[in-house]
Amino acid sequence: MSNAAEIALTQTVLSRLGECGDPRLKTVMTSLITHLHDFVRDVRLTDQEWMQAIQFLTEVGKTCTPQRQEFILLSDTLGISTLVLEVNHPSVEGSLEATVLGPFYVEGVAERPLGADLTDGMEGEPTFYSGRVSDTEGRPIAEAVLDIWSSDGIGAYDVQRAGPFVSAGRAKIKTDADGRYWFRSIKPADYPVPTDGPAGALLRLLGREANRPGHLHLIVSAPNHEEVVTQLFVADSVYLNRDAVFGAKDALAGRFARHAPGVAPTGEMMTQPFYTVEFDMRLRRSA
Ligand SMILES: [Fe+2]
Repeated sequence: MSNAAEIALTQTVLSRLGECGDPRLKTVMTSLITHLHDFVRDVRLTDQEWMQAIQFLTEVGKTCTPQRQEFILLSDTLGISTLVLEVNHPSVEGSLEATVLGPFYVEGVAERPLGADLTDGMEGEPTFYSGRVSDTEGRPIAEAVLDIWSSDGIGAYDVQRAGPFVSAGRAKIKTDADGRYWFRSIKPADYPVPTDGPAGALLRLLGREANRPGHLHLIVSAPNHEEVVTQLFVADSVYLNRDAVFGAKDALAGRFARHAPGVAPTGEMMTQPFYTVEFDMRLRRSA
């Protein structure tokens, strides 16, 4: 096929979209087809490579289960998830930045009181989290909801355990009248994204690392303010600047200060070393 014939084929495919009654779908598919055709021409995709791609995507689909979403992992590791987020929720100086939701969120976890211990028997170093939620003018937001989840201190989530699901490290916490929050959990460990499926195999073929810096997930919401899906990262993680899913940001890095055994911020006596981290969050008012 000559180059002119290749271009003519693309035009023919695009012309068939003329009947599409959904203008947004037409816009999206016109761009997608244009880019995919350009991609095939650009790399001169071979028959074998095309079939490999079909088989790869088939395997990605087969790897998905109700507990595992390999397509999200693939999207994450290709930077697509973060790009979609940046397109729709661009970072604004002075307000809490968003990052990827990840595959381990569980809806409908129970609210626990301020100061609750979310450790739930998880392995890991005790950590006392605190901070303040305010608007972009610095006015405190009372009853802002922090929907929290994290891995344990060796990098595993409750949903990854064998057997029936037992929630650990998850809770909704509401800020007090001064917008303050505090709770206890563990210091999240760096962990690799799942590498036993096709997305992991692709990472290996590309010579890429699978690790993410340790982080605590949060969805922060309050009436009349924009909800933010985000993560609080361990600032001194070696993976902070090479997150396998491109989600880590300096603005979301918290300093986990280590303390010798002694009195914790909650007043309780700790017989082992512990960490404290303070992280303030500013929310934008919704339009
Ligand atoms: Fe995570």
